[in-house]
Formats: sequence, C-alpha cells, structure tokens
Amino acid sequence: MELTEALSRLQSSWIYVFSLLCLVVVPYMFVVKRKAVLQSFEAFPGPPANFLFGNVLEFKQDGTDLFKALEWGKKYPNAFPLWFGPFLCLLSIHHPDYVKTILTSAEPKDEFIYSFLVPWIGDGLLVSNGKKWFRHRRLLTPGFHYDVLKPYVQLMSQSAKTMLDKWESYAKTNETFELFEHVSLMTLDTILQCAFSCKSNCQTEGGTNAYIKAVYELSDLVSLRKRTFPYHSNLIFYLSPHGFRYRKACKVAHSHTAEVVKKRKEALKEETELGRIQANRYLDFLDILLFTRDENQQGLSDEDIRAEVDTFMFEGHDTTASGISFLLYCLACHPEHQKKCREEVLQALGGKDTMDWEALNKIPYTTMCIKEALRLYPPVPGISRKLTKPVTFSDGRTLPAGFYVGVGVFAVHRNPDVWKNPDVFDPLRFLPENVAKRSPHAFVPFSAGPRNCIGQNFAMNEMKVVTALTLKRYQLEEDPDFKPKLIQRLVLRSLNGVNIKIRPFEP
Ligand code: HEM
Repeated sequence: MELTEALSRLQSSWIYVFSLLCLVVVPYMFVVKRKAVLQSFEAFPGPPANFLFGNVLEFKQDGTDLFKALEWGKKYPNAFPLWFGPFLCLLSIHHPDYVKTILTSAEPKDEFIYSFLVPWIGDGLLVSNGKKWFRHRRLLTPGFHYDVLKPYVQLMSQSAKTMLDKWESYAKTNETFELFEHVSLMTLDTILQCAFSCKSNCQTEGGTNAYIKAVYELSDLVSLRKRTFPYHSNLIFYLSPHGFRYRKACKVAHSHTAEVVKKRKEALKEETELGRIQANRYLDFLDILLFTRDENQQGLSDEDIRAEVDTFMFEGHDTTASGISFLLYCLACHPEHQKKCREEVLQALGGKDTMDWEALNKIPYTTMCIKEALRLYPPVPGISRKLTKPVTFSDGRTLPAGFYVGVGVFAVHRNPDVWKNPDVFDPLRFLPENVAKRSPHAFVPFSAGPRNCIGQNFAMNEMKVVTALTLKRYQLEEDPDFKPKLIQRLVLRSLNGVNIKIRPFEP
C-alpha cells in the first residue's frame, strides 16, 4: 500500500515537473526562436503580422489579395517580410534589382512550398535541385530545340481549331461565356499531342475532364496548405480531410499520366524506326525521356520518367491555359489593339486557316500584346528560393542564410517605380527601344537565370497560334459585368472565371 502511494506521488510530481517545463520552456523557445527570425528581418520593415498566424489572415481569398500585396509594395519599397505562421517568414521582393540578385544566383527552390508538390509531380525538373536537376535539365533541353518545336505548330493549330469550332454557338448568340475551362482543355489536348504524341478527344468528349478537375483540386489544396500553418506539418496534413482529398486527387492525376506512358510503351514494342517515319511521327518529348542517355550511357529511372511526365503534363498545360485566357480577355477589353493584331494576323496567314512556323515571326504587334498580357496577368504570379548563404541586395540590406525569398512576379510587373501607369494595357512598352531602357528583370513571366522556364518558346508559339486563329474567326468583346477576380493558385486564376463575348468576324 505504502509503495503504491509512493509511486503515485512520484508520478504526480513528474507530471508536475513536466507541466511546468512545458509551461516555461515551450513559450521560452517560442519567444527565442521568433526573436531570432525577427532580428534577421530587422532591415526589412513590413506590414504588421499576427504573432501566430502572421499575415495570412489578411489574405481574404476574394480576388483582392494580389492587390493588397501591391499596396504593401508601395509602402515598403523593394521588399517586405511576409509571415506564414509564428516562425515562417519569407522576404517578398518586387524590385528588378532585387529580382536580379536572386534569379541570377544558383540558390535552390524553397523546400517549404515546393515540397507540397512532390507527392503529385515528384522530384521532377520544377522541384529538384543540385546535381539531379542539372543532369535532367541537360538531358531534357534537346526536347525544346527548335527542330522539335517546329512540327508542333501544326498540332497547336489543330487543337485551337477544335476549340474555336466549339465556340460557334457562343458567336451566334453573343452570350457571355467562361473561357478558362475551354482553353484548359485545348492546352491539355496540345501538350498531349505535341509532347506525348497522344491522340486525345479531351476537347470533344464532353463533361468535366477528370485530370483537369484533379489539377484544380491539387492547386487549391497546395495553396490552402501554404496558408494554414498547422498543415505545414506532413503528419497533420496527411491525417486531415484535406490531406485525404489531396491523395485522392493525386491518384486521379497519376492514373492519367500513367495511361499515357503505358500506351506509348505498348506502341513502342510494335514500332520500328521505319514505321515511325512512315507514320510521319516526329521525335517527341516522351521519346527523349525514354531514350535519353548521359555520357555514362545512363538513362532516366522509371521513377524519374514518371516525375517528368507529371511535371510537364501540369506545367505544359495549366500555365499556358492561364496565359491564353487572360490574353484573350485583354484583347476583348481593348478593341483598338485587337484590331491592329487582327490586321497583322490576316496578312501573316495569307488566307490560310492554320498557322505555320514562318508566320510566327510575322506578327510583332501581336507578340507585344502577348507580352503585355503576360505582364499584367503573369500565369506564374510568384516563385521562391531558399538562401544557402547570406545575400546582400543592391541597396546594401542583407538577409542571412536559411531564409526564403519570394519573387513577387505580379508585383514586379506592376511596380510603379518601374512601369508608368502600371495598370494600363499598353503593348508599346515592348517596342525594342522601350525594352532597352528597362532592366531585363522588370519583366520575368518565365523567370530568369539558370532556373528559367524550359518551355517558354513552346508557350510563346502556342499563344501566338491561338491568338492568330481566334482573331481570324471571332471578334472578342468584354462583358463589363464580369471582371475577373484574380486569385493566386500555382497559376493565376480567376474566382469567377474569365468571361467574354464573341461575334463572328466578317472581313
Ligand atoms: C505561359 C506559359 C508559361 C509560363 C508563364 C511559365 C512560367 C514558368 C516559370 C515562372 C518558371 C520558374 C518556376 C520556379 O522558379 O519555380 C517555369 C519553370 C518551368 N516551366 Fe514553365 N511556364 C510556361 C509554360 C511552360 C510549358 C509549356 C512547359 C512545358 C512544356 C513548361 C515547363 C516548365 C518546367 C519543366 C519548369 C522548371 C524548369 C527548371 O527549373 O529547370 N512551362 N515556368
């Protein structure tokens, strides 16, 4: 009896000591850790942040968040800290000189946000770092050589035509319709045909495409995870209902990409080189993934191939869908520029219904409009890096190693210190003489430096083809009742969609 009593007393005193430790040590560690982060950011004043939730609660997810960050950018020039929880702080930068310092460096992707993508797109080119990234980038770069891109123009024209045929009913009634959904199907069709030589009926089979739906879900959940600090923990996210939804959507996305690879492997078993030439099939991105070898004759592992297919399937369609949707919206809002583009396009097409490689360089005004749309509506509104060493910016301020730096692409593109009337759509900003007066890091829709977009020529070509063929057939009109409510997911989207009206163009 006495022994049990003594044990129970000992136990309760341990509980007492443990509780005391928790009450004292945990808050102490919290304060010390937070103080260290605060000190590191001392040189960078920024908007007030809640000690637990940081600045996240300021983001209402109602279409105003990107503009809120612009306002902060005006108040805190060049850069300001953004808090995503009690300890996680990122330096958000919006001046070209700052952008140059970060993007020309070899600093790795930040493992905080990019790691949220890994269960979905694997450790592919977008996410990987170091030697692995370098090897893959070298092996995959030939897949974007202009000899490879050339035949894609024909396929892009065909996919665009399928979409434009579907729009005839909207043109007849002149009713407002939502573009982004149509354009996503078209860009998915294009990447499937170009990069994977995969015949797809995704534009015509009706209903909601399961892969595209999964990409929306995954993008929303990655963004939610970033904003919800307990979800920064893998375990908590994994056990949460959102983590369950994430895994379910990953399965859908993976089964789509696995099917593409499976079909190709089966086809390859039967295909001879001669057969390929007879079937007039060009070398595509998937061929390069499957057959590439480094100097040691080492190819990519099955896991590497899967990651790259998942990466390119996503990056290759969602970014261009965003870019094309907002570009067509801009042209709808600016009939005077639309008219100039159409005149130029009709001349370049010379009566043909499809765009060809040579015509891509004959539409300089349209190209300037595309760039201006990418400035105002960058499909990738933000990217980030982790510092492996301290960095000193052009104004002498320093941030120590270990912290994250976010390049606010949207904010750089609308920085009033760099762009006159930044919110005005003015393609002449991209006249060569005007470009020469600006820092090359003032306009970075495809990022810059060693980690720039490998698909940028592909993307520009696709944007040119789709604009040209759209303007040949339709007149685009704005519906003032439907202003897009911009929202940052992995790509730029609109909460209420991107809506326009169209009429047939009659020359
Ligand atoms: C308008 C369309 C596009 C835009 C605005 C865009 C933008 C970007 C940006 C900003 C990055 C840097 C991301 C970062 O640092 O985290 C990037 C990287 C990348 N993009 Fe694009 N992209 C577009 C289209 C494409 C297309 C069509 C493909 C593939 C066919 C593609 C494949 C990639 C890949 C694989 C990377 C990672 C490159 C690396 O780190 O080596 N992108 N893109």
